[in-house]
Amino acid sequence: MTIERTTSGPELLLGLTREPGRTFRGQLEQHLRAAVRSGRLPVGSRLPSSRTLAADLGVSRGLVVEAYAQLVGEGYLEARPGSGTRVAAGVGRERPAAGGDVAVPPRLPIDFRPGLPDLTGFPRAAWASALRRALAEAPAADLGYAGPGGAPALRAALAGYLARVRGVEAGPGDVVVTAGYAQGLAALARVLPGRYGTRIGVEDPGSPGTRDSLARAGLDPVPVRVDAQGLVVEELAASGVRAVVVSPAHQFPTGVVLAPGRRTALLAWAATAGGLVVEDDYDAEYRYDREPVGALQGLAPDLVLYGGSVSKTLAPALRLGWLVASRPPLRAAVASARHDLDLGSPVLDQLALAGLVASGGFDRHVRRSRASYRRRRDALVAALGRHAPALQVRGTAAGLHAVVDLPAGTDEAALVRRAAAAGVGVYGMADYHAPGRSGPPGLVLGYACLSDHEIDSGVRTLAGLLEPGAADGDGRAAVRPGRPAAGEVRREPGWARPPRRPGR
Ligand SMILES: Cc1ncc(COP(=O)(O)O)c(C=O)c1O
Repeated sequence: MTIERTTSGPELLLGLTREPGRTFRGQLEQHLRAAVRSGRLPVGSRLPSSRTLAADLGVSRGLVVEAYAQLVGEGYLEARPGSGTRVAAGVGRERPAAGGDVAVPPRLPIDFRPGLPDLTGFPRAAWASALRRALAEAPAADLGYAGPGGAPALRAALAGYLARVRGVEAGPGDVVVTAGYAQGLAALARVLPGRYGTRIGVEDPGSPGTRDSLARAGLDPVPVRVDAQGLVVEELAASGVRAVVVSPAHQFPTGVVLAPGRRTALLAWAATAGGLVVEDDYDAEYRYDREPVGALQGLAPDLVLYGGSVSKTLAPALRLGWLVASRPPLRAAVASARHDLDLGSPVLDQLALAGLVASGGFDRHVRRSRASYRRRRDALVAALGRHAPALQVRGTAAGLHAVVDLPAGTDEAALVRRAAAAGVGVYGMADYHAPGRSGPPGLVLGYACLSDHEIDSGVRTLAGLLEPGAADGDGRAAVRPGRPAAGEVRREPGWARPPRRPGR
């Protein structure tokens, strides 16, 4: 049996055969029914016009009109004047909606989930004009592959920006454009084992994303404790690892700024152990109270591999980030590992970002959003002062989230569960520890996406749940009797003091 008639147009792939007893019309109907039933033609999809399909198959238009009419009669298709012939609702298989494969829990009415900037503040007009400009001005040659490090214009813009704002020491050739920091880490996971072994130090508590992504790449993330001054460098040295991922400017999630003595000790460790520090500078543009803390990379470009992205400053949806690798053999290996993953990030977006940085539009946006996040940070601290004045809040000097220490003995998981039942999303510190490890109870509170009113109302609810004796649905108290209550928590010296509380 040979295919006699086949479509060649882009709309629909079909083949008809010449067989005794089987008409072209019958075959066409059969193919279309099967395609609808299997979901190959999903509900609502538009079929080619009878004229186009007839011309494509080399059959008469009347044949196609009759076949369509038959399937309309059977309920497979529907024909509406002006909108053509479409697959009717209620037949065939609905395709699962995009996104159903990623288990992201839905946001609660007031959700302190950390990790996102205020997406309503995305500078749409500035981005659209940067993109339009990139499209208008990019020579045709720029529409090819950008090469391992990314678009030269963006590498140059980032080298200048990171030097100016973060004290990063880099030339354009040191910058590798990535699809977000996460992809940079995935590229590093290909490069690190050959040079530094498969055991990689990670902060504990720390970013579950970092830990899991290294583990899924076949590496062995080794948790290293974080205390009030940041990563405990003696424990890092004792662990025997030769590479470590840290977030020195605003540790994720504790918000601790790596203390000056620890910065020095960490670099001394890298120098003596022949080690590498991977610096995750994920939200460093947002610093409110203190002098800016420069990137560690600026102190020792040969020992530190720096990473960042626009996920907190613009939006994660852009998937644009960077690695800065100054040491030549590592630099080339990182660039080619990143290139192997997908041959580069979308060039027009890279050029748009380069334009936005070069024009000062990026700086203006960060300045505006920093003021807005600072107000929300103040609102969170004020709400905690009003409703739960004894709770210690820390990590507020920078970033888009803060941490609240819970009274010793608090059943953190029960509190999180009960807050969720009351429509308030808070996140327990336990989620940020490596399996088998734990620490004092605490909550991570992201405030970037909430209004002052939501912050106040969420904190009030939380404070109510923390009152001694407030029982769980299953009868368990979040704060167990006999343990210190909310008002009795001990303030540890050295942790960042809450900034000014209005009215005090
Ligand atoms: C600790 C940390 N680093 C980096 C990132 C940014 O990742 P990306 O740039 O891939 O969006 C995140 C995202 O939430 C994060 O939590």
